[in-house]
Amino acid sequence: MLYSEKVMDHFTNPRNVGEIEDANGVGEVGNAKCGDIMKMYLKIENGVIEDVKFKTFGCGAAIATSSMATEMIKGKTVDDALKLTNSAVVEALEGLPPVKIHCSVLAEQAIKTALADYYTRQGIDPTPFVGELKDPDEEHLACEM
Ligand code: FES
Repeated sequence: MLYSEKVMDHFTNPRNVGEIEDANGVGEVGNAKCGDIMKMYLKIENGVIEDVKFKTFGCGAAIATSSMATEMIKGKTVDDALKLTNSAVVEALEGLPPVKIHCSVLAEQAIKTALADYYTRQGIDPTPFVGELKDPDEEHLACEM
């Protein structure tokens, strides 16, 4: 079996799919090579992520990692969400095949982009909090189509 049970569970029954109409942080990242797109919606109140939803046009690994990543940041503070790494998400999913690790970067980048949008909407420069956003394309070169 190529994928862990957790990956299969989150792929076949993804959590937090959809969009939030009054989101105050929205991020979209895409990959030109495989054509996968991820959009992340955050509803943040008093520095806490009250709700999170995502929509993706992506592969199974991208769906599973986004589902797990949204579960991991829901109810957490913005600071905690900023610390979430794709390797922590992959670990929570009990691993991904090496060629699919790159897909998990899409979820992390979508969350960071949405958090950057949240700061920007408040007139705050997000760079000191979010850092320079990596281009997922660069991480994605080894991605299998
Ligand atoms: Fe591109 Fe998985 S996100 S193939």
